[in-house]
Amino acid sequence: MDRILIRGGNRLTGKLPISGAKNSALTLMPCALLTEEPVTLRNLPRLADVDSFGHLLNQLGVSTEIEGARPSDFGRVMTMRAGRLTSTEAPYDIVRKMRASILVLGPLVARAGEATVSLPGGCSIGNRPIDLHLKALEAMGARIELAAGYVKAIAPGGRLPGGRVAFPIVSVGATENALMAAVLAKGGTVIENAAREPEIVDLCNLLLAMGASISGVGTERLEIEGVERLHGATYRVMPDRIEAGSYACAAAITGGSVELVGAKPDDMRATIAALIDAGVTLSTAPFPGFPTDMQAQFMAMLCKADGASVLTETIFENRYMHVPELARMGADIQVRGRTAVVRGVDHLVGAPVMATDLRASMSLIIAGLVAQGQTEVSRVYHLDRGYERLEEKLSAVGADIERVGDG
Ligand code: UD1
Repeated sequence: MDRILIRGGNRLTGKLPISGAKNSALTLMPCALLTEEPVTLRNLPRLADVDSFGHLLNQLGVSTEIEGARPSDFGRVMTMRAGRLTSTEAPYDIVRKMRASILVLGPLVARAGEATVSLPGGCSIGNRPIDLHLKALEAMGARIELAAGYVKAIAPGGRLPGGRVAFPIVSVGATENALMAAVLAKGGTVIENAAREPEIVDLCNLLLAMGASISGVGTERLEIEGVERLHGATYRVMPDRIEAGSYACAAAITGGSVELVGAKPDDMRATIAALIDAGVTLSTAPFPGFPTDMQAQFMAMLCKADGASVLTETIFENRYMHVPELARMGADIQVRGRTAVVRGVDHLVGAPVMATDLRASMSLIIAGLVAQGQTEVSRVYHLDRGYERLEEKLSAVGADIERVGDG
């Protein structure tokens, strides 16, 4: 299994290109299920999760074609064609690797009248149930059956009527599933307490380009009028605000300065405000609040800040698995419940470390960039799920970082 070796101490300077957003890509790709016509996505990041989602679509009968990207290019262009679906089932072996597979549920039931998806099971950053996804589809007229580890959604008569979905808590994925199901419903749907993340806006923009009728884009109340059919479209995936924020933390901890080429500051206001104000009290919250996906990277950066900082994780329980690893590098962090107190230390020291999720792995990279000596990060496959060619991007701005395989 590959490992990443970092020798800390170099200041990062220069230009760092920002890739297309992973979380956006994973909700734009299932939109291909909604039409017989081709959907082309540009600026699709080269990531393990994007490949897995492509395989899932292939299993459903969707063809995926990647256009002439050279190995040196960042991003790719993918055309997906769902002329005729050959299956409506997302099997366990794919879903267990990638939770985002649940995002085929809404579009499949909308297009084919039924969908079967394996239950995702446990996840390293908490329970992560899918009850809100199911309740939303039910509110829109679907019948839900649970059996043998699978959930089946059925549209009576082959087409969902639509309805009123009121979420008790904000969920990005459940909002996405509800939207993708609503666009082809017989009637109208209202989604209250919808997530407002920029990735949801990206999804709405693709659906609009495909001929959907949606109003309230970017607000907590979305109104969708179902249409008979959607058509194909070509769409550019938004820049990854979490990747950009991660590299901003990396530059900051090294006392360097990088230009995040292609980043969209409007999507990153809470992160930018927190960077300007570093050393503050910070809580994760749904957009426009501070993203939970930036919590681990921020914590790593604060390990070297002057004084103490207080971070509270309100979205996911059990999202502090990077804390013991950072502590092994000399960080001073105390966790009580959902709150972590980080006291800045003079120096961090390199160590062999590993993490159990994507953003936690990135926090170890960030700490490694300033740690004395060598840090060895294992389980690199977590990073490959969400950071396009991380070591290449970081070496180009001066980091001493390499990937090694041990055969
Ligand atoms: C998405 C992102 C993930 C990010 C998260 C929060 C993707 C592929 N992933 O995940 O990177 O960390 O948003 O910004 O886009 N919940 C329920 N029942 C449900 C669904 C969610 O209780 O049916 C809870 C979750 O356990 C969590 C909270 O709602 O506590 C928010 O989760 P949600 O917004 O749904 O996250 P994801 O869509 O899974």
